[in-house]
Amino acid sequence: MDIKNIPEHELARLREKAKELSGSTTDYQSEYSSLLTRRVNHEPLQYIEEYVPFYSISLKVDERCLIPRPETEYLVQIIKDNIESPKKVLDVGTGSGCIALMMKSIFPNSEVTGIDISEDAIELANENSKLNSLEVSFFQSNLLENVKETDHDLIVANLPYIPTENLNELDREVIDYEPLTALNGGKDGLEIISNLIHELEERDYKEVNLFLEIDSRKSSETLELLNSWDEVKLLEDLAEKDRYVFAKR
Ligand SMILES: C[S@@+](CC[C@H](N)C(=O)[O-])C[C@H]1O[C@@H](n2cnc3c(N)ncnc32)[C@H](O)[C@@H]1O
Repeated sequence: MDIKNIPEHELARLREKAKELSGSTTDYQSEYSSLLTRRVNHEPLQYIEEYVPFYSISLKVDERCLIPRPETEYLVQIIKDNIESPKKVLDVGTGSGCIALMMKSIFPNSEVTGIDISEDAIELANENSKLNSLEVSFFQSNLLENVKETDHDLIVANLPYIPTENLNELDREVIDYEPLTALNGGKDGLEIISNLIHELEERDYKEVNLFLEIDSRKSSETLELLNSWDEVKLLEDLAEKDRYVFAKR
């Protein structure tokens, strides 16, 4: 990226970060120039700034996790509007811990667990738990492999959903910096989501509310995967795209 293409509002944020790092409001040129170099090399602004707001909390973000997206904040809102005091919540593919931590914030009496295949993501989610003083149990697990209980009444999953063959179409900011395990949804993009649904069915999960964030272009295929569930519906994001699936069994 050419420095000329960095918009003024980003430059202003980089200047603020440089002032913070240098501990000076006047003598921050060397920090500013190294932050500019990182941005010119396509590093996402959020990683450079280190923290992002998510719904009502602040999260540390770096190359260990996907940067939480606005669609996921809206998923939190949908859950808040539709679910009343769940007893046990499981967030599958927790990344920065954004969904799990917000669930604990909204439902303080619930027992909340967040799992991820990535040890790095779990380490960061634990840091975010401390940062926000929200008690969530985070541990590494390939889907439900290390999850012993089957009595969660709310399960949320924003798993990777980009088809492997489309990864090369992503912006450099995304593909060069965000973790591949957070993006790669395998063949047709539905591999990991369909594995989760099968694992939930095999474990005979009952009385569970499931919310999935999905690729809007895969909504009918996702609904088919859930055809044995009792109640299944598609929900739209703020751009009116089919972005979430709610299912109950
Ligand atoms: C799209 S990111 C979402 C992260 C976070 N939940 C959010 O909404 O920002 C998907 C996450 O799923 C994790 N993941 C990928 N495959 C997984 C698997 N088989 N089991 C558990 N987690 C997995 C990735 O490491 C990544 O953190």
